[in-house]
Amino acid sequence: MLAWRGHLGRYLKWMRTGPLARSSSAIQIRRGRLADLNALWELESRVFAMDGISRRSLRRLLASPSAVVLVAEADHTIAGIAVVLFRATSAVARLYRLAVAPKKTGRGIASALLVASERISKSRQCRSLRLEVHEKNHGAIRLYRRAGYREFGKYRQYYSDRGHALRFEKQLARHGGSNDNCGRC
Ligand SMILES: CC(C)(COP(=O)(O)OP(=O)(O)OC[C@H]1O[C@@H](n2cnc3c(N)ncnc32)[C@H](O)[C@@H]1OP(=O)(O)O)[C@@H](O)C(=O)NCCC(=O)NCCS
Repeated sequence: MLAWRGHLGRYLKWMRTGPLARSSSAIQIRRGRLADLNALWELESRVFAMDGISRRSLRRLLASPSAVVLVAEADHTIAGIAVVLFRATSAVARLYRLAVAPKKTGRGIASALLVASERISKSRQCRSLRLEVHEKNHGAIRLYRRAGYREFGKYRQYYSDRGHALRFEKQLARHGGSNDNCGRC
């Protein structure tokens, strides 16, 4: 009994202070602002060797009412970005961007950004969230599948290396009305 209690105590301490707890509790998700532009662009350029977005586009996204830029902070620095796009005529939101700084991967930052993206899409009455991912991006595909996204199509030769994009979707909520749409709110 004593041995078991000692083991339980160590387990509870590990849960509170181990790497999982440390990394999860240190992640903050917030809305991006214009002041983040330089840091976000630097992150973008570091993560995406090809098909990166320009600084100008990033600035436009930060100011757009039909886009939400989410920023993940870890250890007081910007560690990740997610961009969700909305259309006034559609109940389907699109995850346009998801990136985590190379030194900060494997800590659940992308997963946290995904959850926040889904939450914000739901709050804008969207019934699903869609995304495209390079067919060879196995890490990202694993992340999406684990988060409940299902593959439903493909865009051929979508990327600049002529790689195909796999299309994924996750249903977010059941809707009563047929004319619900994202852009109304
Ligand atoms: C793909 C990408 C977004 C994943 O980001 P990430 O923050 O490492 O993702 P997560 O940490 O949430 O999950 C990744 C792994 O870390 C593990 N993990 C999650 N939380 C963890 C935690 N708290 N502690 C330790 N490991 C954890 C997960 O189990 C997962 O393991 P797996 O590699 O076996 O699947 C990131 O590598 C990236 O930016 N890649 C380049 C850009 C890109 O491909 N974007 C997607 C385009 S569609």
